[in-house]
Order: sequence, then structure tokens, then C-alpha cells
Amino acid sequence: MNQEQIITKAEKYVKQELGKDASGHDWWHSDRVRKLAVRIAKEERADHFICELAALLHDVADAKLNLSEEVGLQKVDDWLMKQEVLPDVQKQVMEIIKNISFKAGRNRNKVLTLEGKVVQDADRLDAIGAIGIARTMAYAGSRGHLIHVPGTSIRTEMSVEEYRNHESTAIAHFYEKLLLLKNLMNTATGKRMAARRHAYMEDFLTEFYSEWDGKS
Ligand code: ADP
Ligand code: NI
Repeated sequence: MNQEQIITKAEKYVKQELGKDASGHDWWHSDRVRKLAVRIAKEERADHFICELAALLHDVADAKLNLSEEVGLQKVDDWLMKQEVLPDVQKQVMEIIKNISFKAGRNRNKVLTLEGKVVQDADRLDAIGAIGIARTMAYAGSRGHLIHVPGTSIRTEMSVEEYRNHESTAIAHFYEKLLLLKNLMNTATGKRMAARRHAYMEDFLTEFYSEWDGKS
């Protein structure tokens, strides 16, 4: 199989695995991250194929959609093996998928390859800006969380379990994650794109609080 055929098969596989998952991991998230990764890869001169393939597959192994992260990772590894991708490609893609998740900032010190940096930036960009706001609201709704409760405490140091399970609000999530991502970007291209999306979120919050108080 050539690279184009592998990408086409990966698209089918991801659609089948993620479908309409409402926790923010639907097929369209993977598709957006893929487009961002391809764009950043070009500017950063990273390997296009590795970035595109890893971006497409990056959420299939997510613990929320599998019995555990290990089971999820094994599933993706098996899939790559079946497609007979080059062992080196398989290894690089698996490394990226394993290491890029936000997980309450816990993977912050992982050393990533250039391609890993690109895919992580792409995934982080899709968590901020207009899309990030929409995903946050959708996720909060799917968990039965409220949009905003004035005075909600913001937890900055959380274990993975706390991060996953604590009763938060959509607006609190901005402070727990979204507004932190700008400073965690790896590449110059990612930083530039994040700055714009970050400013958009700040404008949104200003307007949100103003409307909340009946001021505008
Ligand atoms: P990650 O694993 O990269 O931290 P998730 O898979 O947990 O991200 O999140 C999927 C989407 O839902 C993202 O857009 C994320 O910002 C959003 N999200 C995650 N946790 C919450 C939360 N507690 N409240 C609102 N949105 C959330
Ligand atoms: Ni993702």
C-alpha cells in the first residue's frame, strides 16, 4: 500500500472507531487535527505522512473510549501492523500517540520528536479558539455540567482521575486548561496560531461575563 492508500484506510478506521462520540472525540475532531498537523508540518518541515497518520489516529486509543489506555494503544498498534506500514513508521506513530495527551499537564516533560510536537500543537489548537469553546460547551453538556457557576473553585494541580472526574463547569475549564495551552505550544507556527485563538477566547470571556451581569 502506498501512503495515500494508508491515509484513506486510516480515515475509514477512525470514522468507524470514533463515530459520533460526544465527549469531544468525534471523527471531525480528528479530521481538523489532521488538517492542522499537515499545515504545521509543512511550515516546520516535518514529515508530512507521519504527522497526518498520527493526527488521524491520535484519539482512537483514548482511555475514555477503551477499557484502558493500554488496550487502546494495542488496538492501534495491531491496526498499523495489519496495514503493513514500515516498522519505523509504526514506531514513530505509536510514540506520538502515547506521548501527546494533555492529561492535566502530566505529559509536559515528555521529549517529543518534531512530528510529535507538530501533532501535539495541532491537537492543542483544536482545544482553543472558537472550536475549543464549542467543544468545551458540548463536553460539559455531555457530562451534565453547567455552563457557569460564579465562585467555582479552579483546580490547577489535579491528578488524572481528578481531572477526568471532578464536577467542573464549562467556564472553569477555560482556566483549568484552555487558557494554559498558548504557553505550551511547541512550534513557532503553533505559537502564532495559538495566539490568535487565545485572544479570541479572551474576548469571548469578557463578553460572556458582561452579558452574565446584564451589562451588555
Ligand atoms: P485531553 O485528553 O486532550 O485533555 P479531552 O479528551 O479530555 O482532552 O477533552 C476533549 C474535549 O473536551 C476538549 O475540547 C477539552 O477541552 C474538553 N474538555 C475536557 N474536559 C472538560 C471539562 N471538564 N469541561 C469542559 N470541557 C472539557
Ligand atoms: Ni484530540
